[in-house]
Amino acid sequence: MKRAICCVVALLLAGTLGFSRELKEYDSDLIYEESKIPHYDLPPLLVTAEGKPIASAEEWMNVRRPQILSLFANLVYGRVPQPQSPIKMEFEVKKTDPQFMGGKATRKDVQIRFSNDQGQAEMLILVFVPNQATRPVPAFMKHSFNATKSRDFEAHPERPGRLRNGWPLGEFFDRGYGFVAVYQQDLVGHNEVEFLKGIHRLFYRKGQSFPKAHEWGVLSAVAWGGMRAMDYLETDGDIDHTRVVVMGHSKMGKAALWTAAQDQRFAMAISAQSGCAGAALWRRRSGETLEKMVTRFPYWLCRNAWKFVNQEDDLPVDQHMLLACIAPRPVYVHSGLKDTWADGRGEYLSAYHASAVYRLLGKKGLALESLPPVGEAIINSDVGYHMRAGGHSVEMYDWQRFLDFADYHFKK
Ligand code: GCU
Repeated sequence: MKRAICCVVALLLAGTLGFSRELKEYDSDLIYEESKIPHYDLPPLLVTAEGKPIASAEEWMNVRRPQILSLFANLVYGRVPQPQSPIKMEFEVKKTDPQFMGGKATRKDVQIRFSNDQGQAEMLILVFVPNQATRPVPAFMKHSFNATKSRDFEAHPERPGRLRNGWPLGEFFDRGYGFVAVYQQDLVGHNEVEFLKGIHRLFYRKGQSFPKAHEWGVLSAVAWGGMRAMDYLETDGDIDHTRVVVMGHSKMGKAALWTAAQDQRFAMAISAQSGCAGAALWRRRSGETLEKMVTRFPYWLCRNAWKFVNQEDDLPVDQHMLLACIAPRPVYVHSGLKDTWADGRGEYLSAYHASAVYRLLGKKGLALESLPPVGEAIINSDVGYHMRAGGHSVEMYDWQRFLDFADYHFKK
């Protein structure tokens, strides 16, 4: 019965699916002007749930950070439950091509299989290693919208150094980085509303067939897949698993931040235009809001998140706290001037407010509440940022700044 109600609600919510980003951008109820942003107070970062101020790195790491992660898990993205029967995980390198991109790199197609009494699921990750560099190499791991089984990951026939999907992997190889692609839909559907196939089944308790209100939605499942890809990378001698950057654009930027916040094995995180449920502050309600998100994508977050629709001030967290959970590891946020749906200013402010934790941990954060000029990147910091002119995409300028940020931290 409960399940039926959830499905009906989900279908009603998803009824507006199909609206394009552009259409939604012109929704009349959306806030785009700074003067219309409601007054808000952010929940305190450096005070425990019990009201005790956090004064040291140890208190942050041992008390406040776990509290915040638990709030994000239970109320925002959804917690991964304990499976009833243990999950077996196996890795298999299915194919190796040492001549990828005219011999610039080696491509490995790696299958990760999960199984228990309740079923099985699998992921196909792609690992690219530059042939010229001394191994093990640092690497970027990207949560990907493109299917790793598709031809999108072939070298582009006409554009040197690019994949068919446009990613400039040649640039990464030239600068000594490996690259890992993890497909978002291997374990869960893009806009999943049933949760009967994929990874969730393996975790259901007896009689369960739908996630509970605090259990994992789509983004948590994508993040979980990223962590399993890291489990593999720890066994791959070509990759330096202590220098892996997790990154993603848009929905995948949201997933990248949640992956890095939870899993300290990732050395760095890059959020490209992650917006709502990514870097942007909920309380600004600028561009996409919680309401807009759960209307079109009911289970990207967990069901508990629905309770905060138009009640953002009641949330015990805001997204600066997610970024702070990545500290002291470097985090980089990229916005687009015309990408107003993702609220670039809200993304910057999140990074700015998270900086208090970086400073507490002896790291360098963003010093100014005002944004840097458009097209000027802040690289030389543990919290990096740039706002590019233009809209919702990752351009060569952005890729290069991400590499600069990784160079600054990994090669200094
Ligand atoms: C939609 C959604 C955004 C998301 C974006 C994307 O526009 O509303 O939250 O970031 O899709 O993933 O491209």
